[in-house]
Amino acid sequence: MIYVRLLSAVVASAGFVMFAATPALAADAARGQETYDRVGCALCHGSVGQGPVSGPKLAPDPLPFVAIRDYIRAPAQIMPPYREATLSDEEIADIHAYLESIPPAPDLEDTILAE
Ligand code: HEC
Repeated sequence: MIYVRLLSAVVASAGFVMFAATPALAADAARGQETYDRVGCALCHGSVGQGPVSGPKLAPDPLPFVAIRDYIRAPAQIMPPYREATLSDEEIADIHAYLESIPPAPDLEDTILAE
């Protein structure tokens, strides 16, 4: 009987860990791009996070998910905060996946400007 209880406790906590890890695992760049445009990030940070419209460059090489999430919840200056009710952690994970999917700009030598 003790083994059964122990086993169900282990299964339950494993389930919890999987659930807790879900946002990062399920993050979807295409959905993130849609959210990024819908909630207005693009208006200030540019359509591909290139900055600077009024906000700084976010991509390529975005900050880690936790840093972006914490910043969005409590920005330092001009940027408006986004609360959980407006923008969930899952949606921020999607936005982060989108920012990570943005490739670096081509080298100047590979562009028409170099000719
Ligand atoms: C009204 C304009 C505006 C909107 C909308 C906005 N931002 Fe910002 N963001 C800023 C500005 C300006 C800063 C620079 C610091 C500050 O004012 O807080 C900034 C800073 C940041 C930073 C910190 C960058 C760094 O390198 O330190 C992150 C991350 C960020 N924004 C992400 C987002 C995301 C994601 C969204 C959409 C959910 C968003 N922002 C929406 C204007 C905006």
